Formats: sequence, structure tokens, C-alpha cells
Amino acid sequence: MHIGVLTGGGDCPGLNAAIRAVTLASAARGWTVTGLRDGWAGVLNRDGLPLTAANTDVYLSVGGTMLGSSRTNPLRAPADYARTVSVFDDMQMQGLVAIGGDDTLSVAGALAGAGLPVVGVPKTIDNDVPETDASIGFDTAVETVAGSVARLRTTTTSHHRVTVVETMGRQAGWLAAMGGLAGGADFIAVPERRSKLDDFIAHVRDRYDQGTDFSIIVTAESAVIEGLEVERAAAQTGDQFGHVVLSTRSIGDRLGYAIEEATGIETRTSVLGHLQRGGAPTAFDRVLGTRMGAAAVDYLEAGSHGQLAALHGARIDPVPLADIAGKTRALDDSYLRLLHLFA
Ligand code: F6P
Repeated sequence: MHIGVLTGGGDCPGLNAAIRAVTLASAARGWTVTGLRDGWAGVLNRDGLPLTAANTDVYLSVGGTMLGSSRTNPLRAPADYARTVSVFDDMQMQGLVAIGGDDTLSVAGALAGAGLPVVGVPKTIDNDVPETDASIGFDTAVETVAGSVARLRTTTTSHHRVTVVETMGRQAGWLAAMGGLAGGADFIAVPERRSKLDDFIAHVRDRYDQGTDFSIIVTAESAVIEGLEVERAAAQTGDQFGHVVLSTRSIGDRLGYAIEEATGIETRTSVLGHLQRGGAPTAFDRVLGTRMGAAAVDYLEAGSHGQLAALHGARIDPVPLADIAGKTRALDDSYLRLLHLFA
């Protein structure tokens, strides 16, 4: 058997562990693997390279993706869809593992729904893929955010300032919440809970009045803060899946200016940006990628097409890609309660 593997959407640490696992699990069955370059673009362009133990092994602990990635949507135009469907015959592939977030997996689900032998593996630093307890890359990104917030604390306390930290998280506040909680933020804004600018200002004033002369505020790039003008500044250039670049809202900078203006306390903003997607994967993400990649090959072998390798507690279980289509995994209530208590 010959299968393909691709990584689509925003890259993250741990993708190479999954690619390697797909390759090794296939080789153990006597199968061959083609790595398609740059996500669905590699399918459209028939652009791939043979993957072997030798050329994947060295990447286990390396961030990013050795295959490259893109936000190409092969379902946009009928001609692209037809070319995507015919890749299986043209490249003599009997299976495809699509490693990606909601966009890539929605394409995988649509192709599987049309009867093609496609399975999925979830990755995203946003952790917003439904029906899985974690996606590849999230754990590493939380470490990066937590470490950054902790570093910012020392300079913030020294200068008795307010620091606003802006994290990624297009639709969900997982990264802001977990990174902020772990790093010791005292106010965390997430898209799942609308906040008011006045609450930030009152929070900072109270803190200073009570003798704590610094504050670390974390905001997700997608947070909604009543009283703060951000939406009008958003650049409306969408990608092929229709997403705008949320960092152009500049919510961190705007929040920082507004707090300084209202309180008179010196305020700085750090936008963590793509630093959150970089670096070596944590051991957790290497193991998660390895387990999910190997499980995806199990599903192809069993003919269980259209399945996502999902983490449920300690197990990797198959979940129909059809069940996650069009959904997102929001930060759950238990975290929202914690944010209320500790941040
Ligand atoms: O989807 C993952 C993500 O990192 C989001 O958190 C962020 O909004 C987006 O990708 C950034 O994408 P790009 O790399 O295209 O700027």
C-alpha cells in the first residue's frame, strides 16, 4: 500500500513527530509513504517526496513541519476539488493522513464523506479542535506563553508597571487561559467571556490601592472587550478559508494605551505572535504526535476512513471527522470559573 501525508494550516511543534510516526508505522507494514508539500497545495500540485525512517527520524525533536504548510483550500473551486479527488489515482495512493486544524480537517472530512480514504490528526496551538482533549502543538505553546508571562513579571514588578500580553487563539481562549494561569497573570481576557474595559481599569486601580504595584494582563487576540475600539482597525484580507489576521486588531496595544490613559500607570504591551508557534516540541507533544500518527495508520489499515485520531483521557480513540465539521472547542466553564477566581 502507498499512502500520503500532509500538514496544513498554521504550523506548530510536534508535527514532525506525527509525520515520522506515520512513516514508521507504515514501514512496519511494508507500506510506502509520500509526504505532500505545503498542505493541500502539494495535492493540487502533485508535489511530494518519499518519506523514510532515515529522512524523518532526525526531525522528531524539531519544531515546524519538514513538509511545509499552507492555508490552501482545495474545495474553493470545482476544478480544484476534481484535481484533489483524482490525486489518489494519479499518485497511486490508497490512503491519506491529513494533519491539521479545523480548516484542514474540514477538507479531510469532506473528502472522506465523498468516499475517499482519508483520516485526520488534530494539530493547533489554539487547542480548538472539538472531540479531542488536546491537539498537537498546544502543550508546547502553553509552555512558551507561560514562560514569557513569567519573564515579563520580573521586569513588570521592577518597574511597577502594567504589562499587557497578547496571545494567539483565533476562536478560543485556551492558550491565553492556560499560559496566563501558569505564568501568574492577574487578569485574563478570552473570547468565551466578554469583558469590559472598565473592569480592567478597576482591577488595576484596586490592585495598586491594595499595595500590589504591578499587574500582568493576558488577552487573547480574539477577546471581545466592550468599550475598546478594535474591530474597525481589523484588516479584512481573509485567507482561502475566509479568516482575517486577528493580530491586526492590535487588541494588546489598544488595551495597554487605554489602561495607561485611564489609570496614569505606565503600561507596556508584548505581542507574543509567532514565537508561540516556534521552538522544539515538548515531550508531551512528541508523544502525542507519535501516538496520533500511528493511530491514523491503524485506521487506514482497518479501512476506518473518515476518522480523526483523538485524545480521550489517556486513550487515542477514533472520532468521525463528520462529527467535528463546522464546530469549535471553546474553553470550558471550569476554566472560566478559575479565571474568575485567580485572574
Ligand atoms: O490557527 C493557529 C493560529 O496560530 C492562530 O492562533 C492565529 O490567529 C493564526 O494561526 C495566525 O496565522 P498566520 O500564521 O497565518 O499569521
